Amino acid sequence: MTLRSVILGTGSYLPKKRVTNHDLSQHLDTSHEWIMERTGISARHIAAPEEYTSTMAIEAAQKALTAAQLTAQDIDMLILATSTPDHVFPSTASRIQESLGISKGFAFDQAAACSGFIFALATADAYLKQEMAKTALIIGSETMSRLLDWEDRGTAVLFGDGAGAVVLQAQTQTDRGILGSLLRTNGAGYDQLYVNGGPSTTQTIGTIQMNGREVFRNAVNRLEEAVEGILKIHNISQEEIDWLVPHQANKRIIDATAKKLGLPEEKVIHTGADQANTSAASIPLALDNAVKDGRIKKGDLVLCEAFGAGYAWGSTLIRM
Ligand code: ACO
Repeated sequence: MTLRSVILGTGSYLPKKRVTNHDLSQHLDTSHEWIMERTGISARHIAAPEEYTSTMAIEAAQKALTAAQLTAQDIDMLILATSTPDHVFPSTASRIQESLGISKGFAFDQAAACSGFIFALATADAYLKQEMAKTALIIGSETMSRLLDWEDRGTAVLFGDGAGAVVLQAQTQTDRGILGSLLRTNGAGYDQLYVNGGPSTTQTIGTIQMNGREVFRNAVNRLEEAVEGILKIHNISQEEIDWLVPHQANKRIIDATAKKLGLPEEKVIHTGADQANTSAASIPLALDNAVKDGRIKKGDLVLCEAFGAGYAWGSTLIRM
């Protein structure tokens, strides 16, 4: 009996505060035109002081549970993909587990920067297939705004806050579910995109440092590898893909990947214009957006991809 990890529900949460490019240009030497042309971003949502990675994750998770018609009692595995935990330890996943009222199984955080959700989905899929759990909550939640140097126009304009979640269940006798994932890292990119703080080095939190050009060049090349690679492994042609749900770092990077796949614009889910780069939260946010507005339907073949700090990158193929 083949076990498949099937997505039963999705949910997401965005903070109320919306900051436009125009708002940023009031105190930064930048413009709406520059940001739009280089990134496709026109606004981002920013967490209120009393909102944390955990509180946003809980909102998204509750919506995903409702969509799946399940309750917290059904969940026996919780993985939180994040680079912005509430505290260094315990895991923010533990706090979410307790707040949701999940009383069995296990919960942990997983960090792979912007590729965190792809890595968490792949981990969950492997654990479900090993029957270590039956029903999982996989969440991406980030308060990127707290890692930004708001004086640095090179990074401050790129990121936003938010959370997205999916409920995954191990099922047999179904064609639906995760078909497979491709994960890659190359530590040679460590210094090109990183946060210059940490408990074992500076004992401060630090802010995001980035060599934008170098990250851009690597992202385009690595994502080409990730999408072509996973299609080859699963013997799937480009024409069979119904939707591309990419990590929303930059519209130009997404356009390059879609072009490589020969996918028309209307098959690509874009949420970056209003949400910016929410790191590990961007794929579940985009997925939920397209499920809720009726574009992505049961049975559709979805390709997700991400590239980010590490470098870490990857892709996942899902029959919804
Ligand atoms: N407004 C106006 N001018 C700006 C801004 C801004 N917000 N930011 C930089 N500039 C200026 C620079 O100072 C520079 O000026 P100079 O020529 O006088 O020195 C000029 O614009 C060009 O700067 P570049 O960095 O070379 O601009 P580029 O065309 O590469 O665009 C960008 C920058 C948008 C950051 C691009 O490199 C990019 O998208 N890179 C990928 C970034 C990314 O996706 N990061 C997230 C990865 S995922 C993760 O894990 C977090």
